[in-house]
Amino acid sequence: MSKRKEGCGNVVGNYELGKVLGEGSFGKVFLGRNVETGEKRAIKALSKDKIFRNKMVDQIKREISTMKLVKHPNVVQLYEVMASKNKVYFVLEYVKGGELFAKIARHGKLKEEEARKYFQQLINAVDYCHSRGVYHRDLKLENLLLDEDGNIKVSDFGLSTFSQQVKEDGLLHTACGTPNYVAPEVIVDKGYDGAKADLWSCGVVLYVLMAGYLPFDEPNMINLYKKIHKADFKCPDWFSAAARKFILRILEPNPKIRITIPQIFESTWFKKGYKPAKFKEEKCNDTDDHDQLFIESNEVTVTEKGEHKVSKPAVLNAFDIISLSEGLNLSGLFEKKLGARREKRFTSKCSAAEIMSKMEENAKPLGFNVKKCDYKMKLEAQTMGRKGPLTISTEVFEVSPFFSVVEMRKAGGDTIEYDHFYQNYSTALKDIVWTAEEKPVDSSR
Ligand code: ADE
Repeated sequence: MSKRKEGCGNVVGNYELGKVLGEGSFGKVFLGRNVETGEKRAIKALSKDKIFRNKMVDQIKREISTMKLVKHPNVVQLYEVMASKNKVYFVLEYVKGGELFAKIARHGKLKEEEARKYFQQLINAVDYCHSRGVYHRDLKLENLLLDEDGNIKVSDFGLSTFSQQVKEDGLLHTACGTPNYVAPEVIVDKGYDGAKADLWSCGVVLYVLMAGYLPFDEPNMINLYKKIHKADFKCPDWFSAAARKFILRILEPNPKIRITIPQIFESTWFKKGYKPAKFKEEKCNDTDDHDQLFIESNEVTVTEKGEHKVSKPAVLNAFDIISLSEGLNLSGLFEKKLGARREKRFTSKCSAAEIMSKMEENAKPLGFNVKKCDYKMKLEAQTMGRKGPLTISTEVFEVSPFFSVVEMRKAGGDTIEYDHFYQNYSTALKDIVWTAEEKPVDSSR
């Protein structure tokens, strides 16, 4: 039997629950230890009763499936969700360094450089989640945790439903908590843009990091709302002129003219000392990573008796074609169904050499460097993406001299950027892409 340590000694799934790490707006967070592997996790427990009472089941299911797709070094990862008779448990990444809030409460305000570093990480996390349609809606210092290397991890991303209430109109409304970080348009509560509202909260976070206190803080709620509504705040005299100007652009009460994330990435104050987020290598089952081939491409290939080696594209036989498609249904070859995958294919009636040259020619104007090796090609973006430079490996397979299959796969970078690239690239290649016309089958023949 497993040994029970501190706390209530409960076991949930494979996790032994230990001390309480925190108490959020919607339940307690426990330290959990996997009894098989010893791995530590933060386990957030929520009463089912609350969810059913608020008719939030479907929304929560949707949010959970989205959250499982969010993997960013500055976002607390959701690993799994479990349920008992009365509770739902979120198994989350355990973040060792505690809350940034506690650091400010203990040591006071931060120097501009340090505040900027945290803010850059916060914006990286927020931008990544927004690009996946996930909004936080309750960003505040208490939701920013520090890992063992002193980097930020944003908690509760995508779990905003729990801190909201369903009112008679059936819509979500922010639960009565302290609104110090809430954007003016959210207070008015007539519907708002989640991205712009999150950005306002990031502005409040930045102010608190540099000032050591809140920009809007009034004991009386009505007065607090009035101040937020007019963005009535003052920067302390230790803020640099550039920092003041920057914060004023974020704490702009009109969401239509508030600075946007792309504009933040371009601003001088933000760019200073910026380091892009470092992503862990994604575990990938694709054994056939074309990258390897480019490492070997400088090696001398042994050919027979002075024979000049002429490279040829790999040939696909009937079995290969069937294995590329879904069973005997060849429609998988014709791209449409592969839309959301990292691996994409198109067919062409041009020669393999012609396909290679068209692909190279069209990759360059889209901002990609090209390396070729026989009928394989690697495209690498010249600019940084959300998850580093987008890198794509491609290979042309010959089915017959007049019919080839081109396979492309993401070797690095962000999946959404890859999908976007593929759309542009396949449009640019429309002259060589061949699509089967969907003619009705004549069954009389
Ligand atoms: N407190 C709240 N969430 C936490 C987490 N994921 N790790 C550590 N402490 C926390």
